[in-house]
Amino acid sequence: MSIRTPLCDLFDIEHPVLLAPMADVSGGAIAAAVSRAGGLGLIGGGYGDADWLALEFDTAGETRIGVGFITWSLTQQPHLLDLVLDRAPAALMLSFGDFQPFLRKIRDGKTKLIVQVQTLDQARECVDAGVDAIVAQGTEAGGHGGTRSTLPFVPAVVDVAKDIPVIAAGGIADGRGLAAALALGAAGVLCGTCFFASDESLASENAKQAALCGSGEDTQRSSVFDLARGLDWPDGWNLRTMRNAFTNQWSENIGGLRQNLAEEQARFAIARDLDDTDIAPVIIGEAADLVRAIEPAQDILYRMISQAEDRLQRTSRLVEPNNKGLRR
Ligand SMILES: Cc1cc2nc3c(=O)[nH]c(=O)nc-3n(C[C@H](O)[C@H](O)[C@H](O)COP(=O)(O)O)c2cc1C
Repeated sequence: MSIRTPLCDLFDIEHPVLLAPMADVSGGAIAAAVSRAGGLGLIGGGYGDADWLALEFDTAGETRIGVGFITWSLTQQPHLLDLVLDRAPAALMLSFGDFQPFLRKIRDGKTKLIVQVQTLDQARECVDAGVDAIVAQGTEAGGHGGTRSTLPFVPAVVDVAKDIPVIAAGGIADGRGLAAALALGAAGVLCGTCFFASDESLASENAKQAALCGSGEDTQRSSVFDLARGLDWPDGWNLRTMRNAFTNQWSENIGGLRQNLAEEQARFAIARDLDDTDIAPVIIGEAADLVRAIEPAQDILYRMISQAEDRLQRTSRLVEPNNKGLRR
């Protein structure tokens, strides 16, 4: 048995599951592990660092992987696009910003372009531009995101996407989520949170341990960590993390944080070096409840697939033949 969707054909993969390009977390080892298990792993190009990217592509070796960038940040260092296109990734994912300036260069090669969206207007722009796949990201997602919820947002994007495969993201962490996403019309899923604490993830040891104890209710969206990291994020997106002492202190008092910024940035930098998760962020989403063990990425993916197959079969058994037709 297997689950085959147009996404499998698009990327020539066995399972319709993509590893999210999580900045500082999705390196070459986890991307390659997910790809070897039959999905597609994306390295998290994040805010861009040429040496880091080269190292992580080398780590992935010959395994076919993809890569993702934060679009507004790539705009500030566009040369990184050439660097990764030279590696001929299977897919390049752009999120958070205007992808149009990069369209032609990506189209010139064989790399497929995935764009992650948080609004229907962004989805329509993707359709007009003819991107290869659209990620519909719900607010449940770990990391940066918008305000729409996955359950109603995914089918709404499917409706505007026409023939372009839609990939659901945000709160999908096991086979139940994958089955639900397929039922919504998605061609597959993009997952971050469920891989955050995997063996191959580059998340710190304390962050992985904190994730194992976390619940979706312990997470929140805010911009405190962007301010603390000195990242100039445009309006419209903020960061879902676990709550900790730092968010408790500042998320309701952004003005206060701005007034004390230099001091707080210094405190934050020390905490990050010490892997102190009371102050440094644990970036996971509402699916935190489903992350309960540190295990190989391959095991997470295989379990997701077999659970989804089981769910889809059971669900189809709920449909009874009805000779009388629908009563209206
Ligand atoms: C630790 C972490 C870092 C992330 N970093 C990025 C990133 O650099 N670029 C990006 O496009 N998305 C990033 N995301 C969001 C993912 O692309 C994806 O939308 C999200 O993980 C899906 O929801 P889930 O976390 O519930 O699986 C990140 C997510 C997490 C959990």
